[in-house]
Amino acid sequence: MVSPEELCTKISLCDALIVRSGTKVTREVFERSGGRLKVGGRAGVGVDNVDLSAATEHGCFVVNAPTASTIAAAEHGIASPTAMARNIAQADVSMKAGGLPYHCRLNFALWQVAKKQICRGFARGEDACCHGVWKGWFRGCSACQRYASYPATSRIFSDQAFSQMKKGVRIVNVARGGVIDEEALVRALDFGIAALDVFTVEPPPKDSRLVLHENVTVTPHLGASTAEAQEGVAIEVAEAVVGALKGEFAATA
Ligand code: MLT
Repeated sequence: MVSPEELCTKISLCDALIVRSGTKVTREVFERSGGRLKVGGRAGVGVDNVDLSAATEHGCFVVNAPTASTIAAAEHGIASPTAMARNIAQADVSMKAGGLPYHCRLNFALWQVAKKQICRGFARGEDACCHGVWKGWFRGCSACQRYASYPATSRIFSDQAFSQMKKGVRIVNVARGGVIDEEALVRALDFGIAALDVFTVEPPPKDSRLVLHENVTVTPHLGASTAEAQEGVAIEVAEAVVGALKGEFAATA
């Protein structure tokens, strides 16, 4: 990976820049480009690592790869509640550590996924409602839902939101850490469990109460980490960057 210093040194030679998630495209990068940088491409969905205000101020168009990794993220979103339902991660850790005697294995028993609302999240639009899955803003969610999927909205999962959820709710976040008030989630874990792939700060602190909580299963932002998704976003963003350089996208005010 290019170091921040190297990036700032070389950026004045570039008309376009493509990054994945590890490189921060800061205000300094745009300043040091001397106005040459025309397009910044993020090989992925989120553009959190690009200073968008600075890009706009320096006349740099920013494009992303919004579709190529969505299947991978959706698969992670399905794998997580399934693993949670059967305590897969906890059982694995326990067994490797010498574990519970087999006759105690019911300690890992939770529930079947059949007849819950898992997998119905694949339903689209109005279909989702027919399948008993609520999609959208939290204020439309009632206490009867067990699983829900949400758009990326800052801290929409707050104390107030959790207080309206059914006891035993399972929270799955494969979107962005910022959609959850993490302190509120720690409080809510007294009556629910969560599978989290994303965090407000990444990587989260080693002593994070949320990460260490026994009712949470964590993964290190693996949603888009498949070979297919990573190849896909590389191609998608390259095409977007070329399109932007050719002036194919009109900038909107
Ligand atoms: C994305 O924004 O594409 C995903 O969250 C994956 C990532 O950031 O690497």
